[in-house]
This record gives sequence, structure tokens and C-alpha cells, in this order.
Amino acid sequence: MVSALFLIIYNEYYRYRLRGIKVRNSYHFSPAKGWINDPNGTVYVDGEYHLFYQYYPNDIVWGPMHWGHATSRDLMNWQEREIALAPDENGFIFSGSAVIDTDNLSGFGTKEKPAMILMYTNHDPNGNVERQSIAYSTDYVHFTKYEGNPVIDNDPKSDGYKKDFRDPKMFKNEYLGGYSVVFASGSMIEFYHTNDFKNWEKTGEFYPGENGGFDDLCECPDLLEFDCEGEKKYVLTMSCNIDDENKNREHMKFFMQYFVGQFDGKCFVADSDMKERGPLYIDYGPDNYAAVSFSNHKDNVLIGWAENWCYINDIPEKEYRGAMTLPRKVSLVKTKQGLRLSFGVFVTDCHALLKDSFTMKPFDKKSFCDGKIVLETNGNMLTIIRDNTCLKYKSGMLDKAKYQKFSAERVSDGDCGVEIVYDNRLVEIFADGGLLTFTLRID
Ligand code: FRU
Repeated sequence: MVSALFLIIYNEYYRYRLRGIKVRNSYHFSPAKGWINDPNGTVYVDGEYHLFYQYYPNDIVWGPMHWGHATSRDLMNWQEREIALAPDENGFIFSGSAVIDTDNLSGFGTKEKPAMILMYTNHDPNGNVERQSIAYSTDYVHFTKYEGNPVIDNDPKSDGYKKDFRDPKMFKNEYLGGYSVVFASGSMIEFYHTNDFKNWEKTGEFYPGENGGFDDLCECPDLLEFDCEGEKKYVLTMSCNIDDENKNREHMKFFMQYFVGQFDGKCFVADSDMKERGPLYIDYGPDNYAAVSFSNHKDNVLIGWAENWCYINDIPEKEYRGAMTLPRKVSLVKTKQGLRLSFGVFVTDCHALLKDSFTMKPFDKKSFCDGKIVLETNGNMLTIIRDNTCLKYKSGMLDKAKYQKFSAERVSDGDCGVEIVYDNRLVEIFADGGLLTFTLRID
């Protein structure tokens, strides 16, 4: 009896808890069992948020990918649904997105009951081929794969074959009508367009490396639209998986960058000053990856995977691995360093989470979370130091010294406002009015 109890407590040790009370699936979504990574198919419809995710139900390590599915009405309490998509003859089900086909362009639903369309990458492990496929549903729970899949091919025998060709994020195209999709193609970003979801035509390419960004493997891009003081602007976000030795991003292999610019219906073009201003980061902490926005929502609300590929397998869990960040509302604001993204927690009521807010002088030091985190301002730099002895991981892949210190150049002058949300093992820090965010595990 005692050992059974111990086992339950041990198994659940790393699950997010609120003030010591375990409340599964509150705030930071995690599955009851199995492995999860990227958020997928994030969409809002009929008052419900749908969160799909990269899922391997049979183990707590990455495996043949499925799409798990959870829903929530308030982004705080999540209910797990049945698995939406399982691997098939075209391969594993890699990351992708969802839209509501309100005009019934696909013919899969009706205008009264529009279909939810999912687009995902079929990753064929035999020969490493990645192609884009679709599935649909009118009850938003049970999904049917389109019999004509894949809808965007990638023939390994053709000249145009690309080894990495994945993570489609669809969005409504107000310029051409129909829908567009943005996805990652090696170190490049591609845009395609459709009027029926079954036939897609390529409309553009974007090169992060030529626009002040990192020039390495891209994953999970997204295109966000903003009204910036009456002017329409677009922001292209993406996750980066870079060589440890690459450029100046010392110590960080997985992170997210963004570009500010325009979209003309076919392709994204970065503002000319991005070359000097880039790279710009979504998060300066190590534990926010593959974040994407909810489609069919009036705001830009991003949710990310609150983990890091470098050390997630070291976390001594038994039942599950992986969790999501809090959903964050994103705005594009004018700063003295040009247009920048700003982030704030997007849950109506996070009273049950531990929170703190304070102001720091330009040369200041604060410690919180029982001393596990130290914050330092040094002129225009803000640095977070994590006491890595608090990480109970086995030595394995985690080089504790490497993942200890995270710095960001401040965007504002003067005092630095800091807000912190803290949920058992994850700290989310919003500094300088949300212009700088740091997401990091502390347990
Ligand atoms: C990013 C990623 C995606 C891919 C998925 C596979 O974390 O590598 O590019 O679709 O994970 O699980």
C-alpha cells in the first residue's frame, strides 16, 4: 500500500502543480500518459479552444507520431479527447495546423456546419520523405483522412526533393481568396495557396539567412497579422534548430526567431531594416519551442512546447513527458528599436498560479522561487541565472553550466518591470512590458 502510494507520488513528481496540489491539465497542458512535443492544429471554434499535439501514446520518449487532441473553454482546464490522427501508409503524423472552412471550399462540410480541416506532414521514415496531407471533421472530434493524400508531394526521385519539408500552418488569404499555407523547407520558408484544400500551388519563398536571421534548419513557422496603429503588418515566426557552433547564439540549439514585414497574398517580405535588427527572439529562455497561434481567433494567441529537445529525455518521469506553455497574447508595438513583439499571459484568471511582479533598477539583482532564479540588470542587459542544482535530472545530455545563464538586451530605458508566473516546475518571466520573455524549467 505504502509503496503503491510512493509510486504514484514519484511518478507524478514533475507534473505541474498549483501550490503543491496536483491538478492535472490545469494551465499547463500535459497528457495523462505518453510523450508530447509541438502544439499542432491550434484553432478556436464554437467557444472552444482545440489543441492538438505531437503525441506518442505508448512510451515517454519520442516515437511514431500521432496527433493527440485536447479541448478547453477557458485555456485553463483541458480535457483530453481521443487521438485525432494515427500513423498510416504515408508515415508518421508530424506537425501541422487547423482551420475552419467557413465557406465550404473543400466540400467536406456545409456552410452551416463547416469542416475543420487539418493539414499535417506525413513523415515516411522509410527513405525520409515528408509530404503534406489533410484530414477533416464536422464534429471536430473524429477525423477522416482525405483519400487523395498527400496534397503537396515531395518526390524523392525528383530534382526538387527536399529532405526537410514540413510543419504546414494554414491561414485565410484575404488578398487572393482561399487559404495559404506556410511551411518549413530546410533553411527556407515556403508559401502555397489553395481554393479547395486539395490542390495547392507554390506562391513564394523566404530566406531567414538573407534577412538578418539564422540560416539553419527551420521548423514550425507561422504568419501573424497585426494592426499596428492603423497600419497592417505581418510577423513571420519560426523555430530554429541550429548547430551548436553556429554563429553567436552560444549555448542554444533550439529557440524561436521572428521577422517583421509585409505579406502580399503570395509571400512574406521582411522590412528592409530587419537585416540590421535581426535576429529577434520570441523567448530568451531555453524552454519554449514550436509555438504557434490559434487560428479563427480575433487575437494572436501563441502556445508553445515548454521543453527543450536537448534535455527533455533526462527528466525522470514515468508516465508522461512534455507540457505546453501558458497561452500568450501577442501584440506588435513600436519601440525605440523598431517594431517588436510583446507578450502577455492570455488566461482570464490565473489566480491559482504563483505570481510576482516588481520593478528593477538598471543595476539591480533579485532572487525568487526560493533562490532558484536570480535576475540581474546590468545597464541595458537583463540576465536570468538558474541555479541548476535545482534540476533533478540525471547528468545525461544536460550540460548544466551551458543552460544556466540567459541574457537579453533590453528594449526600454530606465527601470525594468518584471512579471513572473510560476507553476511548480516552470517559470514564465515577462520583462519590460512583455518585450522580453524567458521560459525556463526549474525542477
Ligand atoms: C519540431 C519538430 C517538427 C516536426 C515534429 C516531429 O519540434 O521537429 O519539425 O514536425 O517536431 O515530432
